[in-house]
Amino acid sequence: MQFQMCATSAIAVAYWRSPARRSARRSLFDERRASRKTIDQSGVWRFREGVLEIDEAKILTHPEGATRMYERDGLFFKHEGENPTGSFKDRGMTVAITQAKRIGARAVACASTGNTSASLAAYAAQARIPAIVFVPSGKVAAGKLAQTLAYGALCLKVRGDFDAAMRLVLEASQRLGIYLVNSINPFRIEGQKTIVWELLQDLEWNPPDWIVAPAGNLGNTSAFGKALVEARDAGWISRTPRLAAIQATGANPFYRSFSEKFARRHRVRPETIASAIRIGDPVSYEKAVAAVRATNGVVEEVTDDELMTAKHDIDTMGIGCEPASATTLAGVRKLRKAGLMRDSERVVCVLTGHLLKDPGEGAGRVVEIDPDISAVERILATEQ
Ligand code: F0G
Repeated sequence: MQFQMCATSAIAVAYWRSPARRSARRSLFDERRASRKTIDQSGVWRFREGVLEIDEAKILTHPEGATRMYERDGLFFKHEGENPTGSFKDRGMTVAITQAKRIGARAVACASTGNTSASLAAYAAQARIPAIVFVPSGKVAAGKLAQTLAYGALCLKVRGDFDAAMRLVLEASQRLGIYLVNSINPFRIEGQKTIVWELLQDLEWNPPDWIVAPAGNLGNTSAFGKALVEARDAGWISRTPRLAAIQATGANPFYRSFSEKFARRHRVRPETIASAIRIGDPVSYEKAVAAVRATNGVVEEVTDDELMTAKHDIDTMGIGCEPASATTLAGVRKLRKAGLMRDSERVVCVLTGHLLKDPGEGAGRVVEIDPDISAVERILATEQ
């Protein structure tokens, strides 16, 4: 299989080597926003010259992307939870499954904390390719597992954490000839770049000072760095925003490396309430280091309390997101406090997953009552 023939080092070299094609212009992307054609309506394939060279008829799209950008309290929130399966993973998956079909893959697989598996299952169903997902047993949010099963994937619950599931799927793909679509698959990264390109387009190509994203397996951090370098090289932007990658304190190997100026790679035993980023040994470490360096970026960590407070605040703005996504707002607060980020700077937080993926307790209250108006009156009286 084509992907398996790429050694890891070859992927790393190729990482900076596929600049957006010269024929790609901002005006072309802007015109496509008004088009009714399905691939133009996709926020991934709208940028197709910079994503994948392929016959348009062979593109497998839901369509995805074209998510909203919210402005609240002086911050921008790009809500990738508004993708078809409720997370940003759909942007990479449309490209990876298009490629899987192109090479005639017999089956597709990934390890996942839940969102990649839901996305893979949906796109594999559309492509009619069998899907196998490897998830850490007991550590996947209920909504994500339900989606994965509904779309018809075979789900292998691995007794171990995400990192163990990742190692197993790598071995399985090498031995059993299954096409691997985790974010070490370069086609995933090509699709995820469009989160950045679309948010730049949302801002009329006037770049923000910062782009803030949660960091787990580091696919997104890698993709964002590549997107920004390519956008600058293609002349779509004249200034490069800085990346801020935010980890949970209990799953912070990338933060630890950053704190030592990337002197060495860390691995940790992960523990955090944000199950999407409960990852101790991220596979895209090297590409993510390159992304942080290329954008004069930073890596920050936030505690579970800090990220859950931020989630409460995003939820009660009426937007909502899953816990991992809220690391962004928590990270902004911390970076501002440290003086690294100024209040006057324009910041885009990328919300990676939908509120309903991992609901839990919320800011509202539930009170059970008899079907009796006096019960309602009593409750409302205590609320005054
Ligand atoms: N936010 C959400 C909601 C995620 O699901 C993930 C990763 C991330 C952030 C981190 O992105 O891995 O590119 O650094 N979820 C993967 C999964 C691991 O299997 O769904 P990353």
